[in-house]
Amino acid sequence: MTLIDVHLTPDYVARALREDVRAGLSATPKWLPPKWFYDARGSELFEEITRLPEYYPTRAEREILRARAGEIAEITKAHTLVELGSGSSEKTRLLLDGLRDHGTLTSFVPLDVSESALREASDAINADYPTIDVHGVVGDFTAHLDKLPGDPPRIVAFLGGTIGNLIPAERESFFQSIRDVLEPGEWLLLGADLVKDPATLVAAYDDSAGVTAEFNKNVLRVINRQLGADFDVDAFEHVAIWDADNEWIEMHLRATRAMHVLIPEIHLDVTFAAGEELSTEISAKFHRSGVEAELDKAGFTPAAWWTDGEARFSLSLWQAV
Ligand code: SAH
Ligand code: AVI
Repeated sequence: MTLIDVHLTPDYVARALREDVRAGLSATPKWLPPKWFYDARGSELFEEITRLPEYYPTRAEREILRARAGEIAEITKAHTLVELGSGSSEKTRLLLDGLRDHGTLTSFVPLDVSESALREASDAINADYPTIDVHGVVGDFTAHLDKLPGDPPRIVAFLGGTIGNLIPAERESFFQSIRDVLEPGEWLLLGADLVKDPATLVAAYDDSAGVTAEFNKNVLRVINRQLGADFDVDAFEHVAIWDADNEWIEMHLRATRAMHVLIPEIHLDVTFAAGEELSTEISAKFHRSGVEAELDKAGFTPAAWWTDGEARFSLSLWQAV
């Protein structure tokens, strides 16, 4: 049996979703936070995205992890691996292998908002790694970091480039809150996607099979189901653009006609003009100097910086000062 702590009770989730939807859909321009993509279907769609030919980040990060997991284990000698936004924890197995084979790892603590993904991954890892305690946490990495179990020294892994889904102000407080829960000498392992040519980037977020479009629209399905809304999901189209000034991809949902959407649970009547866009996600891309500046500011010192062979994606190791 896997141990799972649930910090996201149905009440907490319902309240948080109502607040986010009210704030985001009353604003100009309209926006929604990306964490609401990830119900069970959204998590499955993300896994499908990771297998798309256009979506290079997962493959690039896996290549780095495969090459560096042994080194990471040797440098950190971690007893606990914490993984934030863990999803399927598929690539994480490379780290678990490295740390286990090095003989230091005793526990694995995956944390995710998606309860279905978290339970599935925790059960699978529990079955495949009998010598490691798996202690999952259903939680929000912007709110529940103080609730993390596990013996020091810990390594906190934040993989997949999910850091790019936070806006700069959120990144700053997120790095600070990780630093606050770590003791000096403990570790952060960060996967961050790198700036590259816009055509490659746009293709990764607007794949030819339309899986990313389905993932994007899933947020409307979540709101329909959870808040009784009547979004006509097919009346929205997926948009992915490269914002060269901010160096991030923006995903939008564009209304293909004028419409009213009723959201009974929050007594909100939302109007969309034809062509109006709702912003659903940013995916920021980084330069090494930018990552270093943000981590330095949060109180981390660099231990290693690695990229894949084509320098598309970075994995970097940081020690809490
Ligand atoms: N780390 C995995 C999954 C990345 S997808 C990988 O590299 O493939 C992003 C994951 O973060 C999803 O599983 C999603 O449910 C989770 N997530 C998104 N926002 C979150 C939040 N605020 N708190 C906790 N988990 C979150
Ligand atoms: C989870 N995160 C890192 C993904 C990304 O690439 O920003 C989410 C995603 N959005 C569209 N495709 C994938």
